[in-house]
Amino acid sequence: IDPALDLFDEIERLKREKNAVILAHYYQEPDIQDIADYIGDSLGLSQQAAKTDAQIIVFAGVHFMAETAKILSPEKKVLLPDLKAGCSLSDSCPPHLFSKFKENYPDHLVITYVNCSAELKALSDIVCTSSNAVQIVDSLPKDQKIIFGPDKNLGRYVQKKTGRDLVMWNGACMVHEIFSLQRIVRLKERHPQAKFIAHPECEEAILQMADYAGSTTGLLNYTMKSDAQEFIVATESGIIHQMEKENPGKVFIPAPPNNTCACNDCPHMKRNTLEKLYLCIKNELPEVTVPMDIVEKARKPIERMLEISA
Ligand code: 13P
Ligand code: SF4
Repeated sequence: IDPALDLFDEIERLKREKNAVILAHYYQEPDIQDIADYIGDSLGLSQQAAKTDAQIIVFAGVHFMAETAKILSPEKKVLLPDLKAGCSLSDSCPPHLFSKFKENYPDHLVITYVNCSAELKALSDIVCTSSNAVQIVDSLPKDQKIIFGPDKNLGRYVQKKTGRDLVMWNGACMVHEIFSLQRIVRLKERHPQAKFIAHPECEEAILQMADYAGSTTGLLNYTMKSDAQEFIVATESGIIHQMEKENPGKVFIPAPPNNTCACNDCPHMKRNTLEKLYLCIKNELPEVTVPMDIVEKARKPIERMLEISA
């Protein structure tokens, strides 16, 4: 890349020239969030992917998100700045094992969290995100038996909120499982006025302490509505960029991880950089593709989710 290039200007120019839209998740680095046409949580991003008029969707997020966009808009070109931007939660549920697991519960409906592969979505009845999982389970008849996967932490949270018994897959997100309960307790003692907010991918003991739990958009909205001036934030730290932009003067403290990790960054989300984003839109590569038979099977459970959350 020519060091004299202003990547912000170049990306803007290429976007117009190619009729491309940049959709970015809140966990992306600040520069990417700042140049995106839309920033959101997984639900918001899939709603945008379903309705955009652009020819090219540049997905600044991870692989399962770009796949979801492709499933919803198969006629569009979907690009991901780094094809290796995966997800530990998605990896914790290989479709061939889930398929065997599902055979043990033939009378159960399968709800899968959107953080999973296209193949897994194709094995599901309804997809959900962290912002609508409770609503989706609540929308089903009380006697409906349900398998929930792959995130056991979100599953447990939904179970508690809905009072339903879910058969759960034992998966988790590496970023949300590393928070240190002891360090958070000590931090709260030092900041007694701070609100403690957490993503439902966090473990139960962390969620029990939270003043509010919700998706990334839910957490951001909470900070905007709350009168509190200080927040301890238990999710990937990328969201703090938007929290600071939307709340000048308020203070956001990332919840501390345990001593195996230095920070709360998602190594998958952070594979994307402004340079890779520029090269991706310029070269229209790497492209995310999904086999047509999987697109057809995976589209129904995603559309069912979008209908329930409309
Ligand atoms: P949401 O933005 O939908 O809350 O998802 C969080 C997440 O872990 C995405 O990978
Ligand atoms: Fe996957 Fe967790 Fe990273 Fe989200 S934060 S992409 S769930 S590993």
